[in-house]
Amino acid sequence: MRRAVCPGSFDPVTHGHLDIIGRAAGLFDEVVVAVLVNKSKRSLFTVEERIGMLEDVTAPFGNVSIGSFHGLLVDYCREHDIHAIVKGLRAVTDFDYELQMAQMNQRLSGVDTLFMSTSPEYSFVSSSLVKEVATYGGDVAHLVPAPVYRRMLERIRERA
Ligand code: PNS
Repeated sequence: MRRAVCPGSFDPVTHGHLDIIGRAAGLFDEVVVAVLVNKSKRSLFTVEERIGMLEDVTAPFGNVSIGSFHGLLVDYCREHDIHAIVKGLRAVTDFDYELQMAQMNQRLSGVDTLFMSTSPEYSFVSSSLVKEVATYGGDVAHLVPAPVYRRMLERIRERA
């Protein structure tokens, strides 16, 4: 069984994330999307809400499940018998830190990281930018799944 993890904050999931998750699902028997629980980071959605939205939008893939973790990603990998980490690379600016983490994770645990180039139409998309633009009324409907977009606008309105 070839099982990979796509880790991240997913606050919220974007089409950029889905692009990577879907392509990873085509390469591995099973893909686990693991949401980082980071209490020190102020998020728009709770971990439970993010997991719920991920479950909805990844349901069509069939071999994708959603989990959450805190602490080290490599510990999560060991506990769930995962031998590969899949990360999307949007631009060279992502590369330095991603390489450092990949090498650290490899040294800590032997788990390899595979970098997948983000599809060009999503190379400028990040959750934080999508939230910022939406907060100021910009139209980012085409960058996140429709139900996620609706919930994001609701939450932004509630917080305003
Ligand atoms: O979506 P993000 O916030 O860019 O995802 C970052 C994430 C969750 C992939 C990264 O911060 C991570 O793996 N954190 C877990 C803690 C850990 O293992 N740190 C050591 C990395 S070498």
